[in-house]
Amino acid sequence: MSAEELIGAAAQARRHARAPFSGFQVGAALETGGGAVFTGCNVENSTYGLTVCAERVAVWKALSEGASDFTRLAVVADTAELTPPCGACRQILWEYCGDIEIVLANLDGRSETLALASLLPRPFDAGFLRR
Ligand code: THU
Repeated sequence: MSAEELIGAAAQARRHARAPFSGFQVGAALETGGGAVFTGCNVENSTYGLTVCAERVAVWKALSEGASDFTRLAVVADTAELTPPCGACRQILWEYCGDIEIVLANLDGRSETLALASLLPRPFDAGFLRR
């Protein structure tokens, strides 16, 4: 799948965002090496703290379907400055997806591709638990 198609999948998922509290809608699309795509949108909650970001919804969907071997994640929001994954999502992405490509995009057709490692330098992960 092209980067444009993955961005399109994330933009489509964004339309399902449940964001009545922030009004900030986000979509994500996670691709595997085999070409499967799992999408997610942010789902907010009246207690605020139980809100789940679009990125994590995509990861949970993929893992719960038995997927692995992730290669790329697209994130789409309607911001001039491209919206990156929050800190919690960076940690989850690192642990379950490794150093994948992160494609940030907005609704105006701007995009940028980064390595997850550049967004989460010196990560804590399961390797430390065995040292
Ligand atoms: N949000 C995401 O879904 N992904 C991001 O990358 C940034 C933030 C959501 C969480 C919350 O529903 C809203 O955006 C405002 O923070």
